[in-house]
Amino acid sequence: MTRTLITGGLVITAADEVHADVLIEHGRVVALAAPGSQEWVAERVIDASQKYVIPGGVDAHTHMELPFGGTFASDTFETGTRAAAWGGTTTIVDFAVQSKGQALRAGLDAWMEKADGNCAIDYAFHMIMSDVNESTLREMPKLVEIGVSSFKLFMAYPGVFYSDDGQILRAMQVAGDTGGLIMMHAENGIAIDVLVEQALARGETDPRYHGEVRKALLEAEATHRAIQLARVAGSPLYVVHVSAEEAVAELAAARDMGLPVFGETCPQYLFLSTDNLAEPDFGGAKYVCSTPLRPKEHQAALWRGLRTNDLQVVSTDHCPFCFTGQKDLGRGDFSKIPNGLPGVENRMDLLHQAVVDGHISRRRWIEIACASPARMFGLYPRKGTISPGADADIVVYDPHATQVLSAETHHMNVDYSAYEGKTVTGQVETVLSRGEVVVDQRKYVGHAGHGAFLPRGLCQYLG
Ligand code: URP
Ligand code: ZN
Ligand code: ZN
Repeated sequence: MTRTLITGGLVITAADEVHADVLIEHGRVVALAAPGSQEWVAERVIDASQKYVIPGGVDAHTHMELPFGGTFASDTFETGTRAAAWGGTTTIVDFAVQSKGQALRAGLDAWMEKADGNCAIDYAFHMIMSDVNESTLREMPKLVEIGVSSFKLFMAYPGVFYSDDGQILRAMQVAGDTGGLIMMHAENGIAIDVLVEQALARGETDPRYHGEVRKALLEAEATHRAIQLARVAGSPLYVVHVSAEEAVAELAAARDMGLPVFGETCPQYLFLSTDNLAEPDFGGAKYVCSTPLRPKEHQAALWRGLRTNDLQVVSTDHCPFCFTGQKDLGRGDFSKIPNGLPGVENRMDLLHQAVVDGHISRRRWIEIACASPARMFGLYPRKGTISPGADADIVVYDPHATQVLSAETHHMNVDYSAYEGKTVTGQVETVLSRGEVVVDQRKYVGHAGHGAFLPRGLCQYLG
């Protein structure tokens, strides 16, 4: 199949909404034209009347098969990318992990091997640096050259992924010199570990204490410190999984000063809260992630940040662990619950629900879920938009369908849904990845191995 025509839909990008036919050839968008105005002939015609035609989602934060807390995230690259496609996401940027004592390149090669031949959609990598030293600092520019242009550092998880301020400053200096982007897990992990120890000593073992010890102020303090370190180093900064109102305020203040500081939040912080962490019978374990869910009152600041562009991207931080057999590891000690939530399949729908609920506009939906993550991580306009020359990663979206989110019907390899029973308006109908149909009117027709590795350029919000 070389030519496909999508007819009669409302094409929505971050910039425009226009009724148009879309012509696809050899995996790329070739042209858009007023509906019916061209005599285009194609082997496949997809009728998108009454539907939206949107760019495939770009999820810039996933953790397929991540080793964490003595177990592994339960989605493989095969199951996780298939679920992503079901949910209208056609690109993921996952995190390769450097283990302590290992070269960055060895970590990257290991993750390349996990993904190679297994993905249903295209994928790229960031690099988690858990051992910042002279040798790994020297490797950073080489990774940027081969398309791994962003590096995640952790101010949390002492003894695992944690970097101290000196290591962070050095990595930021290299990033500043080479055009790399530092992604920061901003929580004061040293202080949090003291609070964890004290809580457990008081017998506070339930999952809800995970939210209490990982205080909003300790997210805000780390965010502030990361911003100051980035200023000193002359480097840009992208703060991942922002959940606290006070952290949004730090980002907004930095951006008001014109600093190259960016922020991402995730659906779980927009739709869930500490009420979920307090669910009985260890049920709160399903919602243990870091940064943690916050009291509902924080959500208004996150929505406002998304509207004012103080937050630019919504990613999932998809990092699923089954309730039975994995989250269980923390019964009797919340600090042993593997951190992470499933969501790669739900992001596009939940953000469409935010359009329905009036939090954001349709174009902002596409901007925060497709265009901005593509620009942030050097993939635009190949990904994140529908325009001549772009990859034909396209979703036909039915804005009128309703669905009930549930583990019974989702495709992620995890035994619960964080949004069990939630009704949302809107549903993915058909998905194309580089012009190939992956989901056809809600039937999966894709295959492992279609997805290709994407070497990325530099962040496109700089320079
Ligand atoms: O709880 C989370 N977020 N798990 C994944 C690892 C990380 O910090 O992003
Ligand atoms: Zn993190
Ligand atoms: Zn993460």
